[in-house]
Amino acid sequence: MKTAFFPQGFLWGTATAAAQVEGAAKEDGRGASIWDVFTHRYGLDTPDVACDAYHRWPEDVELMKSLGIQAYRFSFSWSRILPEGTDRVNEAGIAYYKSLLAALKKAGICACATIYHWDLPQDLQNMGGFGNRAFVDWYLEYAKVLFDNFGDDVDMWITFNEPIAIYVGHALGFFAPGLRNEKYARQCLHHLLVAHGEAVKLFRSYGFANAQIGITVDVWHHYPDRPDDPDDCLLARLQNETQGYGMFLTPLFLGGYSQLHERYMREKGIYPQILPGDFETIRQPLDFYGLNFYNAIYDRADCKVELTGDQGGNFQKSVREGWDYDALFDVLDILKNKFQLQIPIYITENGMPGTMETPDENGIVHDLDRIEYLENILTRLARAIEAGANVRGYFLWSLLDNFEWSAGYTCRYGICRTDYNTLARTPKDSARWYAQVIKNNAVTGAK
Ligand code: NOJ
Repeated sequence: MKTAFFPQGFLWGTATAAAQVEGAAKEDGRGASIWDVFTHRYGLDTPDVACDAYHRWPEDVELMKSLGIQAYRFSFSWSRILPEGTDRVNEAGIAYYKSLLAALKKAGICACATIYHWDLPQDLQNMGGFGNRAFVDWYLEYAKVLFDNFGDDVDMWITFNEPIAIYVGHALGFFAPGLRNEKYARQCLHHLLVAHGEAVKLFRSYGFANAQIGITVDVWHHYPDRPDDPDDCLLARLQNETQGYGMFLTPLFLGGYSQLHERYMREKGIYPQILPGDFETIRQPLDFYGLNFYNAIYDRADCKVELTGDQGGNFQKSVREGWDYDALFDVLDILKNKFQLQIPIYITENGMPGTMETPDENGIVHDLDRIEYLENILTRLARAIEAGANVRGYFLWSLLDNFEWSAGYTCRYGICRTDYNTLARTPKDSARWYAQVIKNNAVTGAK
């Protein structure tokens, strides 16, 4: 068995998000978010209670301390801070995050905070949400409240998490707010990017001594299933540039939309309204890039899964089963060579879902498949870093089993099990394994 070491100072963390763990949906003045409304409307599992982290966060900080976790990625809930989305600040919400940040500091755990992790206040949705250009101002107002209150107490700020979710929620209808209108979705994504750029400019105006800012974009790279088939190749390229990460990384790091993306949107009549100066605003220098990496997707043109809803976009399912660990090498290459990234990269999410996890008689989950997955990923990550990849840290998704959006509570990503009856948290085998990785700053085992 080989041991792969990580560089000194490599940051080891875990990640969660407000709507997925906090619960307390109606407590202390919190307003409704689009996920509250969406899940109740369609009779899905709701985030009403989730892991009840709103009350149990001290236990979670202790849990992280006991595992030696060095950084915690969480998100602010917009509707807990500004219940109607704008104007009225909810002091109880501010107090909650102040306590959490103080406890993290006391425990010596770095704070990485996502400003927006998918939970738009419903009142803003009622006014057109992301599709309204005013979204940029709403988001800036929210970001300002956060910067004013928490500024330098947060080590790493993330403007948006996985913007693709906004496409899924507006073009495909699988996520809140459950719309199927691709033209509208494209406009939403454009506004999101402008809001990101404006927030980075605002952040810079504070001149924080310690805090850094970046964005998290997930990269699910599409490969042609048959690399010598021109149709598969074209499909994979289209997916990467017009439905996946290219939609965001091109404007963020290269400027503008790619030619293929532009042409695609014009031909489909879904080109968004873009104001002069938008592309300059979007392309702000960042302190780091957050990569969410889980797997790759293999496309075949002759078994295309198209979802056409009303004017819905299309969504490609992989024709291959299993985990493509090596795709991580390609993704890091693409970031460096295609998107010219020179800033530090943090893996802001990586982990493995479990749908059939049963605890033993002592309540312990022996999630050996998760350990195998993580071992394979981390071994490759160490190799990539050794070969020059500028990756400075890794956040495992997730600290706890939690509310997995439209999949509700059926899908568990935690290294600690959440018992949804008692809300007790119990470390799984993977948690003990991860604690060892952190302690040794090294991973042993995978090929
Ligand atoms: C993507 C999202 O950022 C997170 O909220 C989600 O739970 C995980 N990945 C797993 O699907």
